[in-house]
Amino acid sequence: MTRAAAHPVAEIFTQRWSPRAFTDAAISDADLMILFEAARWAPSASNLQPWRLIYCKRGSANHANFLAALNPGNQIWAKNAAALVCFASKTTLTRDGAEVPSPSHHLDAGAAWMALALQATTLGWHTHAMVGFNHEATRKALHVPEGFALNICVAIGKIGDKSTLPEALAAREAPSQRLPMGDIVFPEKMP
Ligand SMILES: Cc1cc2nc3c(=O)[nH]c(=O)nc-3n(C[C@H](O)[C@H](O)[C@H](O)COP(=O)(O)O)c2cc1C
Repeated sequence: MTRAAAHPVAEIFTQRWSPRAFTDAAISDADLMILFEAARWAPSASNLQPWRLIYCKRGSANHANFLAALNPGNQIWAKNAAALVCFASKTTLTRDGAEVPSPSHHLDAGAAWMALALQATTLGWHTHAMVGFNHEATRKALHVPEGFALNICVAIGKIGDKSTLPEALAAREAPSQRLPMGDIVFPEKMP
């Protein structure tokens, strides 16, 4: 299935998509750091950069613990990815010397994830975000302290053949489409 943009956006926006079939290709530290560097340059409220990225490469000491914290339905395919990254974010900011709730840490972390995903696309990597993970187990496995929210875990890998997936997942393995513009953008006010 191909993706056709309704307006002439940069190709990278339609090229990026989230497969589940990954090859067993490993990712170099150099490539990973380029992805993290892209995330580092994401914009954030007051430039506070509340995101924290914790990663395990497949086969690393803590990878099995990270993988086990994902929902079983995500483990099935994410186990093959070259790396898993958790996007945490600091839930408070300092105002007048006091810690107050941050109104935008989730959004800021979202911008960082998208920057990483687009950078991955330019390097020939694919990413797949997951909200399906056990928060308590992930926090424990990755030593994420209180005061940081867990937003998403992201699998990064080289795209593989969908025949390597269980049948039900293979059937869904295609770039998705989007809501029509008229459903999401409104001049002046919402109807
Ligand atoms: C915040 C977030 C959470 C997601 N959680 C999961 C997940 O737990 N499992 C999964 O298989 N896909 C998950 N996805 C992938 C989405 O289903 C996918 O991004 C969406 O269908 C759009 O497809 P595309 O990324 O290929 O354009 C998640 C994506 C996002 C952005």
